[in-house]
Amino acid sequence: MTSPHPALLQYVKTHLPRFRRELDELLVIPSVSTESARQGQVLAAAEWTAQALRALGCGRVESFPTPGAPLVYGESIPAGGSAPTVLIYGHYDVQPVDPLELWQSDPFQPVVRGEDLYARGASDMKGQILAVLKAVEAVLSAGAKRPAFKFLFEGEEEIGSTHLPEFIRTHRDLLACDLCLNPDAGMIAPELPTITYGLRGLAYFELRLRGPSHDLHSGMYGGVVHNPAQVLCELVAAMHEPSGRVNLPGFYDVVRPLDPEERRELGRLPMDEAFYLRASGAPALWAGEQGFTPFERVGARPTLEVNGLSSGFTGEGSKTVLPAEAMGKISMRLVPDQTPEQVTSQLEAFLRQRVPASVRWELKRLAGGPPSISARESPGVRALARALGEAWGQAPVFRREGGSIPVVAYLQEYLGVESLLTGFSLPEDNAHSPNEKLHLPTWQKGIAALALFFSYLAE
Ligand code: BES
Ligand code: MN
Repeated sequence: MTSPHPALLQYVKTHLPRFRRELDELLVIPSVSTESARQGQVLAAAEWTAQALRALGCGRVESFPTPGAPLVYGESIPAGGSAPTVLIYGHYDVQPVDPLELWQSDPFQPVVRGEDLYARGASDMKGQILAVLKAVEAVLSAGAKRPAFKFLFEGEEEIGSTHLPEFIRTHRDLLACDLCLNPDAGMIAPELPTITYGLRGLAYFELRLRGPSHDLHSGMYGGVVHNPAQVLCELVAAMHEPSGRVNLPGFYDVVRPLDPEERRELGRLPMDEAFYLRASGAPALWAGEQGFTPFERVGARPTLEVNGLSSGFTGEGSKTVLPAEAMGKISMRLVPDQTPEQVTSQLEAFLRQRVPASVRWELKRLAGGPPSISARESPGVRALARALGEAWGQAPVFRREGGSIPVVAYLQEYLGVESLLTGFSLPEDNAHSPNEKLHLPTWQKGIAALALFFSYLAE
């Protein structure tokens, strides 16, 4: 059988300028899901994806409202025969842009500098949504063998996919499929196509401590009234043991150990200390949990992070004050078989034990999602590996990822469906940071690779 490669590649090349324009249309919509003032923009991005599915010729496109952002569903004309059905997942929401002053250009006015396109969401993941839509367009236009397509786009991924599990649970027939393609995971390096098979989960909290009924003069009350900012720092410091382990009761009880074979394989990936030093810009790395490599600590071990702290006076100059309140945003990345519910109880137990009577505490649970491990061997994985290998001239590597994509676990749990995780964002693309970007040559290869994947999947 002749390879569909040349026709598909040619299609992508010919239409690339239009693909870029369409990407710009989506990138200018500031769909920041965590900001309530942006709800209209989140809706506009949902509508954009629905419109894109109609333009693709989907016979059915439906936007399901939720108490949060809508879930956009679409399906293409059936492929006929025994062709498999692939569910394509994407999220049209993006992270906040702050600190805005560190952006070199407006986050919602995409611009090209060098080989990169700069905008919030360029790589996470509006660029990936375009890549997969255009790959579908390419196989449809080339008349190549293809699977049947279903699409599911959500607008709450960056805040923990709040309304997604309920939707999946109650729309099993609608979403029935053989596998899911999820292009929200990135690559290790531009020359290394990557398939991700492990994602960490997340449990995110806001911890508030309240001491005196109002801010006090630090000279009149310091040394007598317990300072909530100090209590918060003491609590946060106690959340890690000196060995780098997380100090919540029972935190490691259900953590699946890494088997030696997998450790050997992960050890071969070019993700050593030097990589993390370079990519992070930190003056030195933290020793972290003893007994594990940096890559294992990020991908396969659970962690606890302080995302933000606020209390008291942070303006210009000095103000002698003993603050009434302190707040910390604290999150944990989870690995199988931990659950957000479990670590919530563990954190509550920790606080009950340790918060002194001198302050009152309140813990609110925010974003979250379960961890997942995906199959590394299946016809889908083989088709994807072949397509990536062909587009890059280099076989893909298999990795675990420290970030979270909640939908993967929900599809496993409610539909028994496995996700293929890939994507064309790079570690240096500044996801969630100022100056997020997309490496355009890698993006173009990615579109071609996905088009090849669809045609191989149908063979
Ligand atoms: N695309 C990321 C997940 C990711 C990060 C994949 C890095 C591969 C490499 C996704 O959009 C994301 O950021 N998810 C959130 C989810 C959370 C709010 C439940 C995350 O990981 O912080
Ligand atoms: Mn993200």
